[in-house]
Amino acid sequence: MTDDRAQCGSLSPYLEKLGEHLDRYLCFEYPDAMQNAASWHSALDIPLPSAGAGIDQVLEEICSVLLPNASRIPDPGCTSFITTGATTVGVLANLAGAVASPQRIGLTAFNFLEELSLQWLSDLFSLHRDMQGIYTSGGSVANIVGLGAARQWAFEQLAMDPAEDGVQRPGRIYATRSSHRTIHRAAAVLGLGRSAVTTVAEDGSGRMCPEALERLLATDIGTHIVPVAVVANAGTTSTGAIDPLHDLGQIARAHRTWFHIDGAYGLPGILDPLVQPLYRGLELADSVTVDPHKWLGAPVGIGATFVRDRSILHRAFTQGESDYLEGSLSQDDIQHSMDSLGIPYGNFALELSAPARGAVVWALIREIGREGIKERVCRHNAMARRIADRARAHPELEVVREPTLSICCFRYVSGDCRDLNELNRKIHRRLVHSNENIPSTATVDGILAIRPCFVGARTTADYADALVDEVIKTGREILGKPVGGAGQ
Ligand SMILES: Cc1ncc(COP(=O)(O)O)c(C=O)c1O
Repeated sequence: MTDDRAQCGSLSPYLEKLGEHLDRYLCFEYPDAMQNAASWHSALDIPLPSAGAGIDQVLEEICSVLLPNASRIPDPGCTSFITTGATTVGVLANLAGAVASPQRIGLTAFNFLEELSLQWLSDLFSLHRDMQGIYTSGGSVANIVGLGAARQWAFEQLAMDPAEDGVQRPGRIYATRSSHRTIHRAAAVLGLGRSAVTTVAEDGSGRMCPEALERLLATDIGTHIVPVAVVANAGTTSTGAIDPLHDLGQIARAHRTWFHIDGAYGLPGILDPLVQPLYRGLELADSVTVDPHKWLGAPVGIGATFVRDRSILHRAFTQGESDYLEGSLSQDDIQHSMDSLGIPYGNFALELSAPARGAVVWALIREIGREGIKERVCRHNAMARRIADRARAHPELEVVREPTLSICCFRYVSGDCRDLNELNRKIHRRLVHSNENIPSTATVDGILAIRPCFVGARTTADYADALVDEVIKTGREILGKPVGGAGQ
């Protein structure tokens, strides 16, 4: 197939077929991809084709080779990463944007939703009313954007412009060891260096100690070192702990240091009345991140950063003037969607070309509203607490870290086992291989825990129970004990 125009044919017949096969995938009845690795390897691993196979053949291969051998992550029993399967409406909006809004710029309805949905997110999570957002590809880049703003602000206080002239004095970022490693990468990318991230002590619940932060800041202030940002977590990746935001924010303010909150995973937790008080201090943040592609169920590729005033993002990230862009626009005669780029998102972060992520977030919120998202968050948090309750009540289980949000770290225990970390590692591997309940593990104070994280819209309390039952059964099997009834 060499006809170029064949690539631009009607979508609907193909979408119908694709939809049927995606629905089949979403039954999660295919065996794991590794079971058939030889077969799909040989089907896919061909040399660069000289002539095209045509769209029908490509679609056939998507349906018969890719989808039956795809990811476990959207499966409601898969609770290992804080990534999940996209919900249906997000897929539809994503597809609509891919076809009809290849850029987020221009005075279109898609562009309008970019800003509206950022405002909705800010309202949904009760951010300070001045907060303005920018979408990125996910939490990694969202942290770079937030810390890029922090770097700009910190050095501007010293009459320096790090975006223009580079970083001319050592900077420091204050974070706990539970902070996501993307904070370190952000420090590297921003020219501060990974070693600029100073570890602040945690309390027994994995939360930053305000006194330790106070001591470190007091030591650095007035030296050659530039305090760039205090990084607090609204939901750590391993355990879901929420740092004492109010105390930390006040300390950061007292020392005139930027206060960044990484809420990539946990910001939606504010919707759960049981944990909402832990978010006191959110209003003190200078920057906040949240990932719609985590708890909100967006297709992967959507994170967001909020700052109080996007002009700092402009100073930190603008690509500067470019004749080919500005020259194509109208200054005063706005009559056409191509007369203006609209809000210059391309100058607020790292991407110029970017998909219309706002339409996806708009669709997710429009479909189920604040109440629907709140119901999901509360359901998932209750599932983590249910696991903790069952673990406390069972002689062969132990809660390793009390859940705050939708993560519960627990483990199988047995008095006659000398190496419980090894035992739980084995249990975890068997769980993965049995392909029904797939949590991750996390090491908490040297203890290897089984770590389910419930964020998938498709998962329900039955999956929490099934996981606990399987952990008990597997632990007994490994130790050669009688397996007994489920959960006994
Ligand atoms: C707290 C936190 N921050 C940042 C990230 C990085 O997000 P992403 O994988 O979307 O880049 C994660 C990922 O799990 C996270 O949990």
